[in-house]
Amino acid sequence: MSIDFLILNQIKKLETEAEYYEKNGEKDKAYKVYEKIAYLYEEAASKALLQSTRELYLMKAGEYRSRINATKEKINGDEPDYTQIAKSMIEKTNLTWDNISGLEKIKSLLRQAVGIAISKPEKPVKIDPPRSILLFGPPGTGKTLLASAASNSINATFFNADISRILSRYVGDSPKTIDSLFLLARKMSPSIIFFDEFDSVSLNREEKENIGAGLIQKILTEMDGFRKSRDFVMVIGSTNRPWALDEAILNRFDYRIYVPLPDFEARRGIFEIELGKNNFEIEADYDDLAKKTEGYSGREISHICKKAIMSMIKRMNPDIENAKPGYKLRIGKITKEELYKSIDDTKPSVSKEIIKKYEEWNKEYGSE
Ligand SMILES: Nc1ncnc2c1ncn2[C@@H]1O[C@H](COP(=O)(O)OP(=O)(O)OP(=O)(O)O)[C@@H](O)[C@H]1O
Ligand SMILES: [Mg+2]
Repeated sequence: MSIDFLILNQIKKLETEAEYYEKNGEKDKAYKVYEKIAYLYEEAASKALLQSTRELYLMKAGEYRSRINATKEKINGDEPDYTQIAKSMIEKTNLTWDNISGLEKIKSLLRQAVGIAISKPEKPVKIDPPRSILLFGPPGTGKTLLASAASNSINATFFNADISRILSRYVGDSPKTIDSLFLLARKMSPSIIFFDEFDSVSLNREEKENIGAGLIQKILTEMDGFRKSRDFVMVIGSTNRPWALDEAILNRFDYRIYVPLPDFEARRGIFEIELGKNNFEIEADYDDLAKKTEGYSGREISHICKKAIMSMIKRMNPDIENAKPGYKLRIGKITKEELYKSIDDTKPSVSKEIIKKYEEWNKEYGSE
């Protein structure tokens, strides 16, 4: 079952719930459910492979955001609870470094940084481990995975703080959100704050212009502040458009790291993670699969595997559509044809030109 499908199912249930609250006049409860729905649509959008689907989900999310605003205005003009907003960004993950294929240098840098953070020096020396890292590169290459694994490896509190979400009006005053976020992160140290879509801070369109500028200022101040503090708070920013960030912001990051498309070994590893390590057997050669998928992102390879698994399941269980609870699902070997067809049906979305753009940007601004 695809992730999209699960999320959409969840949304359906929430919509019924919100409708019920609306009918009962419990607007405060209704808008909380709308928040969840909007967030889920954004989540579905971030996982959607097709541009058109992604846009559709984002549009839906936008509709719910407007509904939230309208509902909130009706309730009262109270200030939102910023601590609660910050808390809602905490995520628990059980992702380990082994779930990430390739990217050895980046993993090693992150492991060192968090390793130092949780150690106790035997002498009172001043160590300043990297506390702010910007990960940039094409979509679906493991940026979010890296941040989650880093956090999980030291049992840190992980804040998944999507900048475009923080900027959206329903969250209230975005610098205040940032304020609460850092405050809570310090309190719950060691913490990692993952700023997804970091480039959204520099959206200089319409009303976002002013909000964005205030937000950047706030984040930069906080980043300077925690450097002096003893609590460990690490900021990991992620962006697909590093060139949209201006130098003043870039300079504040200790490291700017390019997370590229997976190379041969990494692609092979992703197939193994998705198939072999999940107990699936394949009638194909992992090397051949890796060879055939040059130019594909990790997300695309993961999708290829899921599609091939679904084909195998359909082949092995032709009667699956009439399944009753307890139906015994037959699992066979995934054939070469199923895998190859899935590869052929999935077109890589990252162009050579854009890769060149990343590489050139990396040469100029990236850290070694
Ligand atoms: N190096 C990798 N090893 C294993 N799986 C990977 C790797 N890179 C990507 N994937 C797969 O792709 C999915 C998406 O990865 P992730 O969310 O980390 O991408 P991202 O770089 O954060 O993308 P975006 O820029 O769109 O946010 C993962 O859930 C995983 O299934
Ligand atoms: Mg991501």
